[in-house]
Amino acid sequence: MSSDQKEAASVRVFNAIEHAEYGNPTSVLRLVERPMSEVEPGPHDALVRVSKRPIHPGDLLMIAGDKRGGRATPIPAGAPRTPGFEGVGVIEKLGSNAAHQGQFAVGQRVMFLSGTGRTWATYSKVPVATLVAVPDEVSDAVAAQFLINTMTAQVVLHAGHNALPVPELPVTVIQTAAGSSVMRIVTAFGQKIGLTMIRLVRTKEGAALLEASLPGAPVIATETSEWKEQVRSAIGSSPVHVIFDAVGGAMVDDLVSFLSDGGTFVNFGWLSKGASDLSEFAPRGLAFKGVVFTKWMNFSLEEQKQHRDTAIQLAKEAPHVFAIAGEYPLADFRKAIDHASGPRKSGMVLLTS
Ligand SMILES: NC(=O)c1ccc[n+]([C@@H]2O[C@H](COP(=O)([O-])OP(=O)(O)OC[C@H]3O[C@@H](n4cnc5c(N)ncnc54)[C@H](OP(=O)(O)O)[C@@H]3O)[C@@H](O)[C@H]2O)c1
Repeated sequence: MSSDQKEAASVRVFNAIEHAEYGNPTSVLRLVERPMSEVEPGPHDALVRVSKRPIHPGDLLMIAGDKRGGRATPIPAGAPRTPGFEGVGVIEKLGSNAAHQGQFAVGQRVMFLSGTGRTWATYSKVPVATLVAVPDEVSDAVAAQFLINTMTAQVVLHAGHNALPVPELPVTVIQTAAGSSVMRIVTAFGQKIGLTMIRLVRTKEGAALLEASLPGAPVIATETSEWKEQVRSAIGSSPVHVIFDAVGGAMVDDLVSFLSDGGTFVNFGWLSKGASDLSEFAPRGLAFKGVVFTKWMNFSLEEQKQHRDTAIQLAKEAPHVFAIAGEYPLADFRKAIDHASGPRKSGMVLLTS
């Protein structure tokens, strides 16, 4: 072995999925080895060995460069992007200042957000200030998908609350894509605070699955011809001031007649590919409020702590709310992506290592 070969053999590497251009995820992504020196923690960082990370719809939209996933910034030549907005793992090393502060310890299980993306790799360098300790009762599979979706659910509920003319119960809310991971959490939180939820899903099969896995509020399948009558009968005489929507497109047009004048669509996703007709919004004083989970950071530290405690309590007592559709090793990312983007998926698809 030459000295160059010996040196190359001694370089520690980690696996990462990356893409150098935006496009169809299964085409543009590839699994590579990167040198560990890239994730060497700075003084305020931790090196986390990532065990699980979710495939969010937003991850796939971002990789595709689809505006529904947010603004895609250009990927500089020679600096490919590793996707992944959150994950869970174990601290393997702490930067000098982080170790000194003693807030976290090597070997501790943590969940974290990764800003612009990076968790689809076996190791991640994470600012210690952004780590969240995972309680023993919360599994890696739940922790991996915990932060973004609970933050989104809390931002959605807050926007709904702000849209009410009188913030007092009883409040009746319609939810679209009610079987989605975020909406399951919205339902669970909403039930805890006494909201009356009317849940919409696409298929009868999806409705039966959701009713069985998360009972307690009516579920209506929009594939049936009588779904609007069913919604009308579930609403009864209650006003509907707020609709929680993750579908957009024609679904907005279908639901607008159920909304009281002055009411608000709180929208956080556009699962549909179509456009909406908002022509009734002005004459009826309706509002369309788009929300994004990053706005959760605008809550006061006290509110953030209260939200986090509530969400961790939910993860401990009702882990089934955080459903898992499937788990795939990082190397099988193409199969995992096919599963995550296919029909009749219930729960999160996770990549494991
Ligand atoms: N704004 C934010 O900060 C934020 C944060 C997180 C997520 N999101 C967005 O929220 C949405 C839901 O995310 P998620 O992770 O909860 O989703 P998910 O777990 O992947 O679930 C997607 C659900 O949507 C249903 N669905 C798919 N296409 C649909 C369509 N065209 N019309 C109606 N239903 C459809 C699917 O049900 P069936 O196939 O069984 O019908 C499935 O239940 C996505 O658009 C995502 O990008 C936004």
